[in-house]
Amino acid sequence: MNDRISQLLKRAPSSELVVVEGWVRTKRESKTVCFLEVNDGSCLKGLQVVIDLQSFDQSELLAKVTTGAAVSCTGELVASPGGNQAVELQARSIVLHGEAPVDTYPLQKKRHTLEYLREIAHLRPRTNMIGAVARVRNEVSYAVHSFFHDRQFSYVHTPIISTSDAEGAGEMFQVTTFDLDNIPRTEEGAVDYAKDFFGRKASLTVSGQLEGETYAMALKNIYTFGPTFRAENSNTKRHLSEFWMIEPEMAFCTLEGDMQVAEDFLKYIFAHVLDNCSEDMAFFSQWVEKGVADTLRSVVEKPFVHMTYTDAVAELEKNNKSFDYPVHWGSDLQTEHERYLTEVVCKGPVIVTDYPKEIKAFYMKLNDDGKTVRAMDVLVPRLGEIIGGSERESRLDVLTERMVSLNLDPADYWWYLDLRRFGSVPHAGFGLGFDRAIQYITGMQNIRDVIPYPRAAKQADF
Ligand code: 4AD
Ligand code: MG
Repeated sequence: MNDRISQLLKRAPSSELVVVEGWVRTKRESKTVCFLEVNDGSCLKGLQVVIDLQSFDQSELLAKVTTGAAVSCTGELVASPGGNQAVELQARSIVLHGEAPVDTYPLQKKRHTLEYLREIAHLRPRTNMIGAVARVRNEVSYAVHSFFHDRQFSYVHTPIISTSDAEGAGEMFQVTTFDLDNIPRTEEGAVDYAKDFFGRKASLTVSGQLEGETYAMALKNIYTFGPTFRAENSNTKRHLSEFWMIEPEMAFCTLEGDMQVAEDFLKYIFAHVLDNCSEDMAFFSQWVEKGVADTLRSVVEKPFVHMTYTDAVAELEKNNKSFDYPVHWGSDLQTEHERYLTEVVCKGPVIVTDYPKEIKAFYMKLNDDGKTVRAMDVLVPRLGEIIGGSERESRLDVLTERMVSLNLDPADYWWYLDLRRFGSVPHAGFGLGFDRAIQYITGMQNIRDVIPYPRAAKQADF
């Protein structure tokens, strides 16, 4: 395989012939010389290809080499007289693999809006911005695995098709092979799921946590990293119907250990991106969110603030007149409240703990006050919640009671309750929204621009 442009740009000039393969970003021509900027996605920068028109004998072909065309250029790397790069390619020959006609190629050299780019999501990775996002996404994925691998966590593949609602929130997409115009019914007139593909009602998973817990009860420390699906009809800049989530689960661990892992984990992936994507981060800092790289660096260096929900509400109440939704003890925190806490009160990431049980999922450990649960959310500026987690209820009787009071049928969760019957132990975990993490790292405003093909209410193009 030929070297990538990121590698070629670090090489010294040499008479050895090299081949650069990529897509033309720009072409500039004078009477005597033609400059192509070729990009292959390995880095933000392209390689400048210089063609001496007086000695070059492929002028017919060169006429068809325009923005967007796929080319292989062979030549020598020479010192570049221009200030933008150390080396450039002095081309001897060019192979034109695929043309990109000027009158129809949608990505001509000019700035396009992110809204327009969403309409051509199949071509947008060829832009500087979406290309940079794709590289950061790739590096963060790698960092996720290396963080957990280094700490002896096992990567567990939890199912995507699920028959239990892990969050108990009823936001599931159903999976069925029924002909929707002719749904089998029981004698009583109910949908006869026994006749459906799985012989029962099935859905896309909202979280791998419950299955993750079963493996933590055997392997001690595990994590999942996969797609999750939510049919919440919230058309916001931080919600997707299909998003990726990382869910570690740790046996012999309480909320304190859980929060420590969450903080270490976020700092690890931020530091990894700063160390390994410095060029892309400089781009985001300049063009997307001023100074975002410096912000990340300062987050890595400072301990996270901790605050109970009760204290958080006391802070928020002082500012109630400026919120669309005033807060009182017991209310769920909206994005405006989360942002106020992290941006104004704490000026950085904050971990809010011990929420009222009414606004949290059934599996969270009940505190001795009987009112709050051992929950923790990590909030960050601009986005609000990025991580949600908790210590799990490991007492069979308390958990069963909780489910019943929430109208969940314990029989549906028999295997989950078995974990509390056999070798139960304090355990805890959390979920990091991967796409929100990428949004935070890059400063991108809209979550739909950090995932290749966003799915949201009324949006499933491509
Ligand atoms: O707070 P959530 O719902 O927690 C869980 O799913 C737990 N089972 C996690 C666990 O304890 N193992 O979701 C976790 C994170 C949120 O903090 C948010 O970052 C992200 O997932 N998230 C979404 N991201 C994009 N679009 C959505 N619709 C999201 N819903 C949650
Ligand atoms: Mg949450």
